[in-house]
Amino acid sequence: MIKQAIIPLAGLGTRLLPLTSVFAKELLPINGKPGLEYIIEECIEAGITEIIFIISKKKMMIKNYFYNDKFYKNLIKKKNDSRIITEYNKILKYKKMIKFVYQNDPKGTGDAVLKTKKLIKDKYFLMLLPDDLIVKKNCSKSMIVAHNKYKASVMASMTVSKKTTSRWGIYKLNKKLNKTDFLIKGVVEKPSSKEAPSNKAVIGRYILPKSIFKKLEKTMPSKGGEIHITDAIQSLINDNEKFVAHNFLGKYLDCGTMSGYINSSKEISKL
Ligand code: G1P
Repeated sequence: MIKQAIIPLAGLGTRLLPLTSVFAKELLPINGKPGLEYIIEECIEAGITEIIFIISKKKMMIKNYFYNDKFYKNLIKKKNDSRIITEYNKILKYKKMIKFVYQNDPKGTGDAVLKTKKLIKDKYFLMLLPDDLIVKKNCSKSMIVAHNKYKASVMASMTVSKKTTSRWGIYKLNKKLNKTDFLIKGVVEKPSSKEAPSNKAVIGRYILPKSIFKKLEKTMPSKGGEIHITDAIQSLINDNEKFVAHNFLGKYLDCGTMSGYINSSKEISKL
């Protein structure tokens, strides 16, 4: 059973400057709702009961969003507005599920994952990268189905244009398991189109084994000076850990860039 999810939220969000100079990108509204709430809802619908947020001192705004009880209570006392009460109850529901850990130095996704080591209880856990929204079909839910079926770690996958491989982690495929799932023999972080072993990209949903922490402790910074989860995954694969790439069926929205962020509101408003 996958019951815990982790969400790295300590990134600086430089691709969304100037907004992110004062604002946490994960709280920016997408069609009237913080992007992060879409991610939380995906988790809840997939059966997750605890979510670990990896934030930094600079991103305290995220914790404050869920811990603003005094403000809501005073307002409700004064106004008794049913919309405010509904919103506050939603925030309270989320708050009960969330734990916080800190990554004050943004040293990469691998380093962020390592910060959750002490809190992970089961053999596998889910990770969601908040820049990647997947709508229409719950990607985490179908990945959990694949995980149970293959008794393996799972990562979301999408076919991308060969020209854009340097934007993504790219899979080395082993064999097709069925229409949507592939066994992989490796993954490379952001290769040039010349070096890319395929045009299947890693999208930000991962079911990872607890054994990844041992690997992360030894993983050195690589591309861009960051500690990449991709490198720790490759190391696990070298030790024969089974990893499956799952071609999800939902619609992918890239909220980590300005054009993608603008487009995501438009797309969600059409749903
Ligand atoms: C991260 C991962 C990359 C993956 C991507 C998906 O990159 O390192 O492997 O393909 O998320 O969005 P980032 O977006 O942080 O540069």
